[in-house]
Amino acid sequence: MLICEGLSKTYDTDRGPVAAIRGVDLTVNAGRYAAIIGRSGSGKSSLMAMIGGLSRPSAGCVKVAGTDLWSLGADARARFRARNIGYVFQFASLLPTLRALDNVALPLLLDGRGQGARERAAALLEEMGLGAHLDAFPSEMSAGEQRRVVIARALVGDPVLLLADEPTSDLDEETEREIMGLLERANRARGTTLVLVTHNLALAAQAEQVIQVADGAVAP
Ligand SMILES: Nc1ncnc2c1ncn2[C@@H]1O[C@H](COP(=O)(O)OP(=O)(O)OP(=O)(O)O)[C@@H](O)[C@H]1O
Ligand SMILES: [Mg+2]
Repeated sequence: MLICEGLSKTYDTDRGPVAAIRGVDLTVNAGRYAAIIGRSGSGKSSLMAMIGGLSRPSAGCVKVAGTDLWSLGADARARFRARNIGYVFQFASLLPTLRALDNVALPLLLDGRGQGARERAAALLEEMGLGAHLDAFPSEMSAGEQRRVVIARALVGDPVLLLADEPTSDLDEETEREIMGLLERANRARGTTLVLVTHNLALAAQAEQVIQVADGAVAP
């Protein structure tokens, strides 16, 4: 379902090139739950952004459900992402001027699937215990509530691949458990392939596959 081959990312900076990911090969089978672990700066977010179709690799390829993401044109890739990939970003990513409901419905609206989008968004938010916050702006919600909205937004298009980059960092343990429960439910109940970046080794131990990134490479 997810295949990376010879995947590399080098950033050009004022101080010269930074090789963040260096020749990564990896496979995650359909419906699996994989955890990516590794020290800060090892390249986890860089890897996820290439897998998610957000950051162009310097070399190599990413195949999601048989489609070579980076051989598509920009429009086709955006469409493919909207239909197949949900992304939970490491850092705040909700649009501050939109209410929770509209943040969640937006990917469907942008993809021309507006019909029933708000109803679907509302149902997802209610499922996540946010029924009372449909009309709240991000600034009016706690960190954990905002994280749930981000997860609802990632799931609204019914993706085959759900990518979550440290979705529970800086949350208390109970909220972390709740958020993980939502992600695992998507993985089990919907059959969504889940790739989760975490610093929490206890969490990673629950995954079916653990991918260790060190200095831009994946341990075999
Ligand atoms: N946009 C960028 N431009 C230049 N260098 C970058 C950029 N993004 C990341 N890097 C560098 O690439 C390397 C990997 O960064 P990355 O964010 O992928 O690490 P990470 O494993 O996600 O770290 P963390 O656990 O702290 O989130 C680091 O050395 C970082 O400084
Ligand atoms: Mg990161």
